[in-house]
Amino acid sequence: MRVTLIAVQSLDGFITKHDEPGTAFASTADQIHFARTLQSFDCSVLGGETYRVSRERIRTHAAPTRRRMVLTRDPAQFISDAAPGVLEFTSEAPVELVRRLAASGHRECALLGGAQLHHLFLTARLVDRVWVTIEPRLFGNGTAFLSGPADVSLGLESVERLGGSDALLVKYLVG
Ligand SMILES: NC(=O)c1ccc[n+]([C@@H]2O[C@H](COP(=O)([O-])OP(=O)(O)OC[C@H]3O[C@@H](n4cnc5c(N)ncnc54)[C@H](OP(=O)(O)O)[C@@H]3O)[C@@H](O)[C@H]2O)c1
Repeated sequence: MRVTLIAVQSLDGFITKHDEPGTAFASTADQIHFARTLQSFDCSVLGGETYRVSRERIRTHAAPTRRRMVLTRDPAQFISDAAPGVLEFTSEAPVELVRRLAASGHRECALLGGAQLHHLFLTARLVDRVWVTIEPRLFGNGTAFLSGPADVSLGLESVERLGGSDALLVKYLVG
């Protein structure tokens, strides 16, 4: 199973604008790209914090075409939201989660953040591709792309301008 980290960030590397949770800063071009791109993934993984921030939207769009897995230290807190095969909550180690998803027949997994999940999966060498939309914005502070130190080398696959906007979609392979 291939794991692709998908994110949108400011040019100066923040995945949130200041202390505002969520990705309201993302351009319309990125939102269209994100929705379209997700259609080619059969499962996705996100962190408990990202789930809490986007809970309503995730629950509204949850469908069996893409199994959503939320990593949390306390799955019991979300028990009333859980729907097997559609929206699940787990505290297992990332390597075990990836192994289990692959063993269930999943082929394409989208890692949908946030910064703690990026760090956890990249430092565990579980990410194959990194697809980042760089918005033409500078925030100065916010949630950094990674929640901790890392040293990951990437190989450039492609760069494209998103839908004629000033946002760039940059695709890398993890080296
Ligand atoms: N721009 C983007 O592309 C993008 C993408 C995604 C998210 N975001 C934004 O980023 C922010 C959230 O990022 P974040 O880094 O604070 O949080 P996060 O990575 O979404 O989630 C952190 C949570 O994941 C769980 N977790 C972390 N390590 C774990 C481990 N080893 N085992 C089990 N569970 C573990 C914990 O959940 P519990 O607390 O439930 O135990 C922890 O609080 C939000 O504002 C979100 O909107 C932006």
